[in-house]
Amino acid sequence: MTRKTVRIAMNGVTGRMGHRQHLVRSILAIRAQGGLDLGDGDVLWPEPVLVGRREHALRALAEQHGLEHFSTDVDAVLADRTVELYFDAQVTSAREEALKKAIAAGKHIYTEKPTATGLAGALELARLAHEKGVRHGVVQDKLFLPGLRKLKRLVDGGFFGRILSVRGEFGYWVFEGDWQSAQRPSWNYRAEDGGGIVVDMFPHWEYVMHELFGRVTSVQAVATTHIPQRFDENGKPYDATADDAAYGIFELDGPQGPVIAQINSSWAVRVNRDELVEFQVDGTEGSAVAGLRNCRVQHRATTPKPVWNPDLPAAYAFRDQWQELPDNEEFDNGFKAQWELFLRHVYADAPYHWDLLAGARGVQLAELGLKSSAEGVRLDVPEIQL
Ligand SMILES: NC(=O)c1ccc[n+]([C@@H]2O[C@H](COP(=O)([O-])OP(=O)(O)OC[C@H]3O[C@@H](n4cnc5c(N)ncnc54)[C@H](O)[C@@H]3O)[C@@H](O)[C@H]2O)c1
Repeated sequence: MTRKTVRIAMNGVTGRMGHRQHLVRSILAIRAQGGLDLGDGDVLWPEPVLVGRREHALRALAEQHGLEHFSTDVDAVLADRTVELYFDAQVTSAREEALKKAIAAGKHIYTEKPTATGLAGALELARLAHEKGVRHGVVQDKLFLPGLRKLKRLVDGGFFGRILSVRGEFGYWVFEGDWQSAQRPSWNYRAEDGGGIVVDMFPHWEYVMHELFGRVTSVQAVATTHIPQRFDENGKPYDATADDAAYGIFELDGPQGPVIAQINSSWAVRVNRDELVEFQVDGTEGSAVAGLRNCRVQHRATTPKPVWNPDLPAAYAFRDQWQELPDNEEFDNGFKAQWELFLRHVYADAPYHWDLLAGARGVQLAELGLKSSAEGVRLDVPEIQL
């Protein structure tokens, strides 16, 4: 076995996602397992170079994890030819420019979503990366969640018959930040800083729908700001200028005909579900409800026949009539699983389709979702190309 070290510039690793999911649960976890076995006698050893704006925060992070390399000089890191990959988990508004620079420097790109704040910018990134000939990937972590993997298994196995509809429910109460601290960064609630639930969540819903059920062909959304004032990290009140809830209806071009998807996303909802996100899929042969980890099904043969009668108590315990799907495999952290696939794509030429063009589709859906809401209309979602 030959160990090949790959130096990865990681920007935004002091943040929530950058630190927990990408540095700790992905890159450091790959190191903890001895590297990534490429299957050809080579083992890839990721060597992060922490990049950011605040030296003390980077130093503390490096010390905490026993890492040697960190820098506040992005340009110098990009000019360093021993750094082959650039990863970005910065605030959304800082991403586009940073990715452009990294592409121009010839780095392979792996990035959080959304890739840009508008479709034009997202498409330009995809084109630039294509022209430069670098490899590129965009985080589409939900696809790698155990619950959605099981759902995909059902789709691929033909469990549903013809899929009719999808009902997604995502969200939880995000505290306003006054009497209890908010559990998400305040920029998420300011449109001028790249915040908003449509910009944040529609990119996820785009790839989930596209990959499991069919391309999104239209969107109709109502986005709103339920909580107009919040309190920031310093306890200071601010105007929440971004949408904190979005109610969307999507038409999908499924392989067996059109599918209607309806997805509610909200940071102003209290959870009365088993998981923070759940998708119910109804098909002619059966239905399923999938969350982050679990997936339960009801086949047409075990479907009860309720009769509407408000004078009598419910005759069935409906939720008891579903069957839990077994794991049947081991599920790794979804972010790590996707990192590994991307690294195999770059260094072992494995196929990979979650790229900047796929990322641009997510940005497009967010952009059209906001437009649909502002204009009160249903909009077609045209197919995009490089
Ligand atoms: N894939 C997912 O499930 C998922 C979940 C949440 C967030 N995200 C995405 O990850 C990115 C980061 O989100 P987060 O929740 O980790 O945010 P965060 O605020 O916790 O972290 C942001 C990071 O960007 C850095 N940064 C760079 N420029 C900045 C600036 N001008 N102002 C403030 N911070 C700046 C911060 O230092 C920090 O390291 C966002 O683009 C978001 O859309 C993805």
